[in-house]
Amino acid sequence: MKGIILAGGSGTRLRPLTATLSKQILPVYDKPMIYYPLSVLMLAGVREILVISSRDHSEMFRDLLGDGSRLGLRVEYAEQDQPNGIAEALIIGADFVGDDQVALVLGDNIFHGPRFSLMLGEATAALDGVALFGYRVSDPQRYAVGEIDADGRLLSLEEKPLRPKSNLAVTGLYLYDNDVIGVAKNVTPSARGELEITDVNRAYLAQGRAHLTELGRGFAWLDMGTHDSLLHAGQYVQLVEQRQGEWIACVEEVALHRGFITAEQCYRLGQEMAGTAYGTYVQEIAHRSGAMTSA
Ligand code: G1P
Repeated sequence: MKGIILAGGSGTRLRPLTATLSKQILPVYDKPMIYYPLSVLMLAGVREILVISSRDHSEMFRDLLGDGSRLGLRVEYAEQDQPNGIAEALIIGADFVGDDQVALVLGDNIFHGPRFSLMLGEATAALDGVALFGYRVSDPQRYAVGEIDADGRLLSLEEKPLRPKSNLAVTGLYLYDNDVIGVAKNVTPSARGELEITDVNRAYLAQGRAHLTELGRGFAWLDMGTHDSLLHAGQYVQLVEQRQGEWIACVEEVALHRGFITAEQCYRLGQEMAGTAYGTYVQEIAHRSGAMTSA
């Protein structure tokens, strides 16, 4: 399975923070925003990742992540010239995806909760069509909304409905089979002029091949479109990390646990950040893994 992180857009609602910086590079407590969706793809076992950003911001992501090899990944870059919609990421990434399955994640979404990697593993193994992840929210009209029956079967999907049929928001993580490239190419722009990811998902729904897994009550799904939601996300990460001593979206830790890098490599990455709590944590987990032969 290949991965795409969509880190496009001009972040207008976050100005002036985004006057010169990409929204998805802004700090969320102790790490850049893109680490959170990156860690989600890595948890799903994805090692080949395409980062799509606007032309102005592409260099920042290259500087940050390079070719990905330090984390045992292969990272490539592409540009989205205009904010033409999430579904366009699948067209831009068509050659990169080739004949593989693809996991698409939005660059400003945080997922954190128990048994998440298990859930991702199950959804990937059983993938037929699209796997969506739903989350109950108090303001569903801001999102795509799914309606499910008593057996959890998906009945309808609507993008930002004025009168939502449920409070189940569709989160910004989508796992697709390879048909999605063809499906995305057939989508036409919506009233707001965008290629809507919800239209892609509705095409699968019409074929009976759209499945939704609900992220339960103990789960946290956050997106970061405004100054307040950005700060709240940072506060959430700070609270959990300080309380538990377990880091959220520590990409070095995920790389180590997924076997993408060795304990030695992990330790060296931690050493480069010596003097920070993050760097100390990375060194500690390398030690804890028990596989260190030196250092
Ligand atoms: C987008 C999608 C929407 C989805 C949301 C998740 O909304 O269009 O379907 O629920 O991301 O973050 P937008 O970011 O365009 O408001």
